[in-house]
Amino acid sequence: MANSNISQRSKDITPFHVMDILAQAKKLEAQGEDIIHMEVGEPDFTTPQPIIDAGIAALKSGQTHYTPALGLPELRDAISDWYQRRYHVNISSERVVITPGASGALLLVMGALLERDQKVLLADPGYPCNRNFARFVEGKAQSIAVDESTNYQLTSSLINKHWDTDTTMALVASPSNPTGTILSKQDLTELADAIRVKKGHFVVDEIYHGLTYDDTEVSTILTIDNDAFVINSFSKFFGMTGWRLGWLIVPDEYVSVMDRLAQNLFLSAPTMSQYAALSAFSTESLDILEQRRQIFEQRRNSLLPALQTMGLDVKTTPQGAFYIYGDCSAFLNEQHPDSMALSKFWLQHARVAVTPGNDFGSYLAEQYIRFAYTNDEQRLLEAVERISTIYK
Ligand SMILES: Cc1ncc(COP(=O)(O)O)c(C=O)c1O
Repeated sequence: MANSNISQRSKDITPFHVMDILAQAKKLEAQGEDIIHMEVGEPDFTTPQPIIDAGIAALKSGQTHYTPALGLPELRDAISDWYQRRYHVNISSERVVITPGASGALLLVMGALLERDQKVLLADPGYPCNRNFARFVEGKAQSIAVDESTNYQLTSSLINKHWDTDTTMALVASPSNPTGTILSKQDLTELADAIRVKKGHFVVDEIYHGLTYDDTEVSTILTIDNDAFVINSFSKFFGMTGWRLGWLIVPDEYVSVMDRLAQNLFLSAPTMSQYAALSAFSTESLDILEQRRQIFEQRRNSLLPALQTMGLDVKTTPQGAFYIYGDCSAFLNEQHPDSMALSKFWLQHARVAVTPGNDFGSYLAEQYIRFAYTNDEQRLLEAVERISTIYK
């Protein structure tokens, strides 16, 4: 009864299942237990000091007002310059929209491109909020099951197979959350071509760019398709989750709609964060971030074989982000028939917190688990040891 005035669209928004695990973990910690957290989807490092200093300086000098809805002009210029330096692609600052995190960018894109009941194609498993954003703007998320045969990514043939008259856009993430897999330049080109033929929109979430390993070549879609929409953020590579700052790159003709939406939905992204982010591209910050990238790579290099030896079936080597997504069937039994039950069991008996697959979709979700390596290498290996000990 108490819920009767809540909109259907809000009721349909699903919570993160991992919150159950997190709540349980907090309870155990309050009882003095030592929990190893591998469920957290954010870097364990604090924001690099030069960025923090710039944020403090901005506050001290009174930068406490709104910025233009599209963002601080200097920051839009700095991002345009970043694309030139990093990817050798010319993106005019006018096309850069500063948002409250990639989350704000996703809301703008879905709101601007999805008509009521029109569909966005998404990979399952994938980032859980995408389908909720689609629902929130009265569009429809069509999740497409993907597995190791396509590197857990959408492909041009999947686009062709699932696109129908109600489909208007496809959204991919590379590197992906939860699988850490990357779309090559060739993959991106084929996807862009297939979507162009359908006269649809291509949205690429590049939030984990910068966190890639094995010298994998990573291209922004903008070097391939100038009409694509790019989602990005200062959260992951730049280590600024709490500052709530991201960006969106749109084709010229969409700048004005994004301006109107941003004005109305959030007025502007946080001002102190925008000033702080101006230092994110300095050599000093980038050196720190590169060292951190190497630490993440090292962690992946030691955690992956340890998990595999333990019995987790990781079918594709993750080449980016900070996640390992594996098939935990070897651990399932009558007492713990699915990954959610298994996650709770591991938390209780090994004091290790992980994220069950059903947070990322429904395809084989009950037999998959995500491990985030957002913790010290030695703690990560201890977690594997603790889980292995239960089975000895
Ligand atoms: C693939 C992906 N996109 C977007 C986001 C949202 O990030 P933020 O709003 O912090 O920039 C996340 C966060 O985990 C993510 O994994």
